[in-house]
Amino acid sequence: MNPPAYVKHAKLIAWVADMVALCKPDQVYWCDGSEEEYQRLCQQLVDAGTFKKLNPAKRPNSFLACSDPSDVARVEDRTYICSEKKEQAGPTNNWMDPAEMRRTLQPLFDGCMKGRTMYVVPFSMGPLGSPIAHIGIELSDSAYVAVNQRIMTRMGKAVFDVLGADGDFVPCVHTVGAPLAAGQQDVAWPCNATKYIVHYPQTREIWSYGSGYGGNALLGKKCFALRIASNMGRDQGWLAEHMLILGLTNPQGKKYHVAAAFPSACGKTNFSMLVPPAGFDGWKVTTIGDDIAWIKPNAKGELRAINPEAGYFGVAPGTNFHTNPNCMASLDKNVIFTNVALTDDGDVWWEGMEKDTGHLPDHLIDWQGKDWTPAIAKETGAKAAHPNARFTVAATNNPALDSAWDDASGVKIDAFIFGGRRSTTVPLVTQARNWTEGVYMAATMGSETTAAAAGQQGVVRRDPFAMLPFMGYNMSDYFQHWLNMGDKLKTSGANLPAIFCVNWFRKGEDGKFVWPGYGENMRVLKWMIDRVEGQAKGKENVFGISPTYEEITWTGLDFTPAQFQTVTHIDKAAWVEELKLHEVLFTQLAYHLPSELTATKAAIALRLEA
Ligand code: GTP
Ligand code: SPV
Ligand code: MN
Repeated sequence: MNPPAYVKHAKLIAWVADMVALCKPDQVYWCDGSEEEYQRLCQQLVDAGTFKKLNPAKRPNSFLACSDPSDVARVEDRTYICSEKKEQAGPTNNWMDPAEMRRTLQPLFDGCMKGRTMYVVPFSMGPLGSPIAHIGIELSDSAYVAVNQRIMTRMGKAVFDVLGADGDFVPCVHTVGAPLAAGQQDVAWPCNATKYIVHYPQTREIWSYGSGYGGNALLGKKCFALRIASNMGRDQGWLAEHMLILGLTNPQGKKYHVAAAFPSACGKTNFSMLVPPAGFDGWKVTTIGDDIAWIKPNAKGELRAINPEAGYFGVAPGTNFHTNPNCMASLDKNVIFTNVALTDDGDVWWEGMEKDTGHLPDHLIDWQGKDWTPAIAKETGAKAAHPNARFTVAATNNPALDSAWDDASGVKIDAFIFGGRRSTTVPLVTQARNWTEGVYMAATMGSETTAAAAGQQGVVRRDPFAMLPFMGYNMSDYFQHWLNMGDKLKTSGANLPAIFCVNWFRKGEDGKFVWPGYGENMRVLKWMIDRVEGQAKGKENVFGISPTYEEITWTGLDFTPAQFQTVTHIDKAAWVEELKLHEVLFTQLAYHLPSELTATKAAIALRLEA
C-alpha cells in the first residue's frame, strides 16, 4: 500500500491515498517499469486468462488478449470534455458541467476497484526529463493497461526522479468498472456496459470508467497527448496533433521531415514506415512517430516535432509484407496482440496475411474464441480478427526507426499532409497555395468512419485535422490557433511548412481502389518534395495546386494517364456538393469561426462558378 521510499512527492502521495479511499482496491502496486515486473505482470495476465502466451518459437515473448465483444474500440459518444463553459468544449464535443460530471462519477468510482489491485503507473510522454516532455500518473485496476503503458510510454520509477518533490503531473484515473465481491470469480476481460471517458481541461485531469480498450484505457495516448495536451498547447503556443512524423532522405543525403494527419485507421502507421518502391533507389523513409506529434516553434521560427509516445498501438488487419514490411518485421517478437486470431500452432493471424502466404489458414480460433475456417468465413462473413484488432509494440522494434526519434529537440517539419478516406470527390494530392488555404483544407477535411471507433462505419463525416474525436477545446478556437501559429512564424521570417491534402482511397466504377497506395505513396511524397524544392511547377485548380502526370515519377509502376485522371480529376458538380458540406460544418462552428476560413470558402465558390 505504502509508496516506495523513492517517491518524494507529497501531493502525489496524498492524491493516490484519496483515490485509494474512493476506489477501495484490495491492494496498491507501484509500478517500477522493470523487465522483471513486465514479465511478472504478463504471467499474472496469463494465469488470469486475459493473455494467451504465443508459441515462443514463432513469436517470442508475445501475448494475445481477446477483449469482451462489447469493448473493442474508442467510444466517442461516451467521451466528454468538461470545461467550465460549454462553448469552451465547442459543438463537436460532448460536454457536461464539471461539477455535475463529478457528481455523476462519484458513485461509479466509489468502490470500483474492490477485489482488485490498483496499479500506480508513472509515465513520461516524451523523453524522460526533457523540457518538452510531460508526466502523467495513471491509476488503473487493469494489469493489461500497466503492461501496455510500459510499451507505449517511458514508464517506470525514473519518472519519480524527474517529478521530484513537487513536479507537475497529469492525474489519470482508470477503472474497468467491475469490482469483485468476496469470492467472486473474475472474467478474462472485465469491463462495464456504462462507460465514461472524461477530461477536465481546466484542472488537467482524466477520469476513465468502464472500458479496458486502447485509447479508452491507455490514458497517455488520446486523452493526455491529444485532448489535454491540445489545451496545454493552446495556452503555451504549441500544437498537439493526430499526426505521424517521418524522415525522408534523398539519394544525395538531404533529409526532410513530414508530419501527416489521417483519421483513425486511415494509414498513418503505414505511411510512417513506408518502403520506397522500385525506381526510388537511394530514397529512405524513417519513422519518428506513427500517431501523435507535439509540435513547437523554436527561436528560429522552425516548427520542431516530437513523438511523445514510445510504442505503436497499430491496426493489425490489412498489415502484411506487401503493405507494410517494416511493420511486419517490428512484430516478430515482444508484442502484445489484442483481438487478432490464434493459429493452431500458437501464432497470430489476421485478415490480409493471406496475401503473404497465398492461402487462408485451414483453421483458427477467432478473436471471440470461436472456431474459424475459410468455409465458415465464406458462409457467415465472420472475421478472424476484429477489424480494429491491434498490436502493441515498442518503437525500438521498428527496423525503420529514425535515429532522431528520441531526440528532445525534435525534428524540423518541412511539410504537413492532411488526408481522409474518400471513395469519391477528393483528388490524390493537392498543395495549398498558402498557410490559410492549408488550414482551410485541413479544417474542412472529410473521411469515411472506420472500426477504430464504436458506431456506424463508412459514413463520410467532417473530421477537421483528423482531430474530431481528439480535440480538447472548441474546434473554431483551434483553427484560430493554427492561423495564429502561421502568423507568428511568418513574422519570425522563417519559411512556413508546405501544406498538402491527399486521398489514397478514391475508388473506380468497379468499387476498387484505383491508387495502389502503401509503398507507392512514395511517388506522391516525392512530388511534394519537388514542390518544396521548387522543382515541380504543378498546375492550379480551384482550391490549390496539383501535379501533372509528367511530374510524377512512374518508374516501376504501370499507371496510365487515364488512371491518373480517375484519381486526380476534380468534378465541379461534386465540389459544389462538397462545399455545401463545408457550409454545414461552418454553420455548426459559427461561434469563433475565423473569418479567413469563410473568406477562403467564398473564394473557392467563386472559382467553381467561373
Ligand atoms: P490509428 O492508429 O487508428 O490512428 O490509425 P492509422 O492512421 O495509423 O492507420 P493504419 O496505418 O494502421 O491504417 C490502417 C488501414 O488503412 C488498414 O486497413 C490499411 O490497409 C489501410 N491503408 C493504409 N495505407 C493505405 C493506402 O495507401 N491505401 C489503401 N487503400 N489503404 C491503406
Ligand atoms: C485511434 O483510434 O486513432 C488510435 C487507436 O490510434 S486508440 O489508441 O484506441 O485511440
Ligand atoms: Mn490514432
